[in-house]
Amino acid sequence: MRQLLPVPLPDVEVADVYAGPRPAPEGRPWVMANVVASVDGSAVVGGRTAELSSEADRHLFHLLRSLADVVLVGANTVRVEGYGPARGAGGPPIAVVSRSLELDWDSRLFTEASAPTIVVTCTAADAARRRRAEEAGEVIVAGEDHVEIDRAVAELGRRGVAVVLCEGGPCLLGEVVAAGHLDELCTTVAPLAVGGAGPRVAMGAGAGTPVPLRLVSALEEHDHLFLRYLRG
Ligand SMILES: NC(=O)c1ccc[n+]([C@@H]2O[C@H](COP(=O)([O-])OP(=O)(O)OC[C@H]3O[C@@H](n4cnc5c(N)ncnc54)[C@H](OP(=O)(O)O)[C@@H]3O)[C@@H](O)[C@H]2O)c1
Repeated sequence: MRQLLPVPLPDVEVADVYAGPRPAPEGRPWVMANVVASVDGSAVVGGRTAELSSEADRHLFHLLRSLADVVLVGANTVRVEGYGPARGAGGPPIAVVSRSLELDWDSRLFTEASAPTIVVTCTAADAARRRRAEEAGEVIVAGEDHVEIDRAVAELGRRGVAVVLCEGGPCLLGEVVAAGHLDELCTTVAPLAVGGAGPRVAMGAGAGTPVPLRLVSALEEHDHLFLRYLRG
């Protein structure tokens, strides 16, 4: 891929550009996010991300997973995007955040995961569904009426997780931002203007203080931009 920043280079190794360090901030795991959006800010085309992605983006998606100890994702993204386990035997476990626990327990995400899928839920979740979740994988309870992001991240840290990769969706990432837990944002800008009423990559009711970010690298391939930001 061509590097634009921090210095122009005709071809760089993507793994080198996205290498750490990722030190634990204030004793909790490092939280990074990976998202894709159109130039005009839509996080979806036709309700999904596939048309925003590219071969290089998919390569980066798997590379970032290889750098993480767990992939944190909202239940709606799991349902809409048909999530399976992370690729390969050494892939990190997927941790699904859900209150409803309306998840397909017979899907590959639960039946074929080499590292058991984690369900992050709250006390208010339906008891029978919670038992089903416990049969299917591991359950973390991190909140009463809803999952509290800081509790969820701390619980993952107690289980030895040093790097959390949040893959969205917009509602979950909005909560991560509002909780002040976003340490790194890897965003792909797809060369499309989508219009419509699609979501942004992070949204929700609980917008808090904006998180300042600094751009540490910018790569380009086939008009897709790959921007890596760290907390400013
Ligand atoms: N462009 C991108 O980078 C990107 C990335 C990911 C997804 N997407 C797209 O975004 C859409 C899905 O995103 P979304 O914002 O609708 O949903 P989401 O963030 O993936 O998931 C929302 C769901 O997660 C659970 N949840 C989130 N916060 C919770 C909390 N504090 N406590 C308990 N449960 C919580 C709830 O699940 P329950 O309903 O089960 O209780 C909630 O309905 C899809 O269209 C997908 O294609 C885009």
